[in-house]
Amino acid sequence: MAAGTVAAGALTGVPAAAVTDDQPQARVLGGAETSTDQAPWAVAITDSSGRQFCGGALVSEVKVITAAHCATSSVTGDERSPGSLRAVAGRADLSSQNGSVAEVEDVWVHPEYRGYTSGDDLAVLTLRDPLPQQPLGVVGAADDSAYRPGTTGTVYGWGRTSEDGAPSGVLRSVDVPVTSGRECGHAYSEFDERGMFCAGVPEGGRDACAGDSGGPFVVDGELAGVVSYGTGCGRPGTPGVYTKVSGYSAELAAQL
Ligand code: ARG
Repeated sequence: MAAGTVAAGALTGVPAAAVTDDQPQARVLGGAETSTDQAPWAVAITDSSGRQFCGGALVSEVKVITAAHCATSSVTGDERSPGSLRAVAGRADLSSQNGSVAEVEDVWVHPEYRGYTSGDDLAVLTLRDPLPQQPLGVVGAADDSAYRPGTTGTVYGWGRTSEDGAPSGVLRSVDVPVTSGRECGHAYSEFDERGMFCAGVPEGGRDACAGDSGGPFVVDGELAGVVSYGTGCGRPGTPGVYTKVSGYSAELAAQL
């Protein structure tokens, strides 16, 4: 990302004006920088001018799984036009020219999606041309082992490293355990275990943040969750909320 440009946390309602280059480097909270060797399937979703605002996971050479709220307008709620989206793969450092930029041919948003707190925060982008990066497998329908409380997953993204920080120019990842449904429901009254799960540590400090939405939560080398939302980032007692990918196997099978 060029100096002076910022990826605003538009999707969390955090004003772009709050973000400046003076802030410490901002990425997923806690954790560490990672590389495209570790995460070849990690995709940055940008607008047509290259501004990164979400993440995603390449799950076949032409399909990217992301969040519905990344594929819809934050203002009107309408589906974004394919021409307004790009998927950038193989580029951990967004200021580099590494990897490739794919145009989007088609956008599928879960038909029941009404806003991330009501769930179904899931979308699939179909790319115009195949990407060479290794895709990520997707957890199966019956596979609930990934969501057992205490199971550790890894979340990837270019989002902020602190609640009020700037977005990261470099891909970062952090390990976070799945919480119990009770903990998730305690933090979020709208929690619905059929399509959501939470991950985080009670003391906070490890989480996804604004700009990480749509990005992958990976368990045992498979896509188990999609970054959806959270109250702040990394706060004690408020884990991050993820779309539970296994809950959408039928819809995904039809799309992939
Ligand atoms: N909705 C956010 C985005 O636009 C993702 C927030 C995730 N927040 C969290 N605390 N886990 O990027």
